[in-house]
Amino acid sequence: MPTPWDAIPWAPAIHFGLFVHRVEGIDPGLYALVRDPAKLEKLKASMHSHFAWETPPGCPGSLPLHLLERGNARQLATQVSCRQDIAGEGAFSLGMLAEYEAQLVERGPAFYRRLFWEAGAIGQVLYLEAEAAGVRATGIGCFFDDPVHQVFGFRDLAFQSLYHFTVGGPVDDPRLTTLPPYGAQVKGRKGAMDLR
Ligand SMILES: Cc1cc2nc3c(=O)[nH]c(=O)nc-3n(C[C@H](O)[C@H](O)[C@H](O)COP(=O)(O)O)c2cc1C
Repeated sequence: MPTPWDAIPWAPAIHFGLFVHRVEGIDPGLYALVRDPAKLEKLKASMHSHFAWETPPGCPGSLPLHLLERGNARQLATQVSCRQDIAGEGAFSLGMLAEYEAQLVERGPAFYRRLFWEAGAIGQVLYLEAEAAGVRATGIGCFFDDPVHQVFGFRDLAFQSLYHFTVGGPVDDPRLTTLPPYGAQVKGRKGAMDLR
């Protein structure tokens, strides 16, 4: 089945560092999703040497998900995402960890922008898949990248956190008004928008 990132012509250059809090069948803790298995050794070498790199029980063989460390990562996730509760109170949150220095040296500075294209495509899929699964997602552009790098053990520019995301059950904010999508249509009257 085609996916949005089929439109991206380079091998995946963005991997996930996950903070798993409340997912049935998955122990809470830190995880890595290595979106291009060819980069597994590079990620391992860049991250903390004490990480376990265990395959979680029942994990499908096609899903390159690795348990790094068990534990309650809720406070940590909140702290590194600009102290936003949505990063620690949901099912899980994640940092999109981009292959950085080597890619920019090889492909040139314009690849910096392309890494954000990849991050954006992933974000769109996470938004849609979360809704399809009956939960919600929020892109998190506010995060502290140096502390994120410390959590995972990065010591140099091999990887760089570019974007964060969180997935979980929604808590409606009554201060906000929600209008139906695509509801703004000009209906006959010039200049009048029908927003119902
Ligand atoms: C690049 C990006 C960064 C975002 N960063 C944050 C964030 O740090 N914290 C947050 O609560 N929401 C964040 N959001 C989610 C936006 O707040 C959310 O898309 C917006 O509230 C949706 O409002 P709208 O439906 O009116 O467009 C981010 C969204 C994007 C696309």
